[in-house]
Amino acid sequence: CGIVGYTGQKQAYPILIDGLKKLEYRGYDSAGVALHLGNHLAVYKKQGKVAALEAYAGDHPVASTTGIGHTRWATHGEPSDRNAHPHYSASGNIAMIHNGIIENYAQLKNELAGKGYTFNSDTDSEVLLNFIEDIKHNNECTLEEAVRVALKRVTGAYVILLIDTEHPDTIIAARKGSPLVIGVGKGEHFLGSDASPMLAYTKEVVYINDYELAIVRPDELILKNLGNERITPFVQKLDLELAAIEKGNFDHFMLKEINEQPKTILDSLRGRLNAEQGYITLSGLDKIEEKLRQAHRIVIVACGTSWHAGLIGEYLIEELCRLNVEVEYASEFRYRNPIISPQDVIIAISQSGETADTLVALENAKKQGATIFGIVNVVGSSIARITDAGAYTHAGPEIGVASTKAFTAQVAVLQLFALKLAQLRGTVDPAFFRQLLHELEAVPAKVAWILDTQVEAIRTIARRYKEADNFLYLGRGYNFPIALEGALKLKEITYIHAEGYPAAEMKHGPIALVDEKLPVVFVATKDVYHEKIVSNIQEINARKGKVVAVVSEGDETVNDLAEAVMVVPQAHEIVAPLLSVIPLQLLAYYIGVERGLDVDKPRNLAKSVTVE
Ligand code: G6P
Repeated sequence: CGIVGYTGQKQAYPILIDGLKKLEYRGYDSAGVALHLGNHLAVYKKQGKVAALEAYAGDHPVASTTGIGHTRWATHGEPSDRNAHPHYSASGNIAMIHNGIIENYAQLKNELAGKGYTFNSDTDSEVLLNFIEDIKHNNECTLEEAVRVALKRVTGAYVILLIDTEHPDTIIAARKGSPLVIGVGKGEHFLGSDASPMLAYTKEVVYINDYELAIVRPDELILKNLGNERITPFVQKLDLELAAIEKGNFDHFMLKEINEQPKTILDSLRGRLNAEQGYITLSGLDKIEEKLRQAHRIVIVACGTSWHAGLIGEYLIEELCRLNVEVEYASEFRYRNPIISPQDVIIAISQSGETADTLVALENAKKQGATIFGIVNVVGSSIARITDAGAYTHAGPEIGVASTKAFTAQVAVLQLFALKLAQLRGTVDPAFFRQLLHELEAVPAKVAWILDTQVEAIRTIARRYKEADNFLYLGRGYNFPIALEGALKLKEITYIHAEGYPAAEMKHGPIALVDEKLPVVFVATKDVYHEKIVSNIQEINARKGKVVAVVSEGDETVNDLAEAVMVVPQAHEIVAPLLSVIPLQLLAYYIGVERGLDVDKPRNLAKSVTVE
């Protein structure tokens, strides 16, 4: 979910609506705002995207200088008007929005029901709100005090913002486990899940930590811990331009972000890779060099697309550094009682730096003495902050829900990490090391070549196969994770069922799906597996599947075997995934567009999953 708040001299409503639109990538099942209107509160909320809320609220009074807003990704309770946030407390005197999950809500709900409380929604959030109101009433205390008492009994994750009738210009905010940023302006404050809603107004921000509570007024920002002790807010300057979070001339953020990749890969390598002189600088790695020298193994922990980057990391580190690597889904790793020792180095990969499963998996590993290295895109995010060391991916804000430029930046950083570590461990031949540095340096221009020359061919392929019900994606070696990622992109954006598989493993099951209707996308670039993958293509052709292939420039082998090809420049197989993923991103994008879908906000998904 995304949350916003404003208190100051300006009209709050347009600021909240605009902020919600910027945060819609975090969820878009329903949206709502609560405003102070003189001596009472007004809540407007609607199922659907922020535009639906705007259409609805536009007919109501919205003149107010203090308010909070929410865009939801449903956890407890289906997407509907009644489950949309903000919620009113039983008395109607407090309104609250919540991002996260209250795990012990059933117990709290029973207690409240025993006292005669009834509920207007199916959400855990409304339970927490009434729990707070009940404490306020029983203890005859302020809202701030009631929030503090309530939160000591709550388990789960939350960011909450509350306004009440007694304090017309005050927002109370608290966080544990979900992100909260407060923007400091002149006589005004902004609140958001990230800094995007406030970027047009201020660059001074305070990142709120877990178990902190903020009392926010136009001229005042008071920060306290749950023990009621004051904390001095640490004001930071944002290094982010408004243009970075706007679509510019592109039809969609996803297309903009795909096209940014020559620059974002370069930005992730910049200052770190020196091919001319033959060295890599990665200060985060230096920080844990000793740990890495002694490490028994590396465990990579991530979710979604970041997990696919992790698989490439495994291949890279095992091949170049001769060190054992395991790649884990964070959600499994955190619950399955894994064996972790102080000799383990954990690499956490996350675009947002806020994914709940990844975060908790790391907290658990840290408690058991492991060293954590982060590969994170969002500076200052929760995951970035709990790591022992790390290397940021410099992809810039990624807004399209399907990850593209963050993925290639993650892979680029993993390449640097593996190469640098291989050099330290003495497991890579110096001449080969230098060759790979040059290969890596050449990637941004090669990505630009794909974007310049392949779009029309890919659009044609998209039109041709847009009605398919299923797709199969196959690859080997470094291109196997790319097959998984290509299939994931297609599923996310087009709602076509797609599976990624190791090309040879296809014989052990998926081949049963092959018929004249099934498009099979092969990642068949020229590498050590090439002959093998050509055999796999033959196997699909023999069963009348429709072969589409990503091939290397100048390689004609596959042309006669495939119905269509997408071409990428030649590259060493170790850097090849950075190229072969680009046509697959574009293919998913254009099929989504051809099917008339909202590619930036695919149904049911959210970009930043801050619930487990
Ligand atoms: C969500 C997003 C994916 C992303 C995954 C992990 O599912 O929709 O695009 O790959 O979370 O997110 P992270 O921010 O940790 O990389």
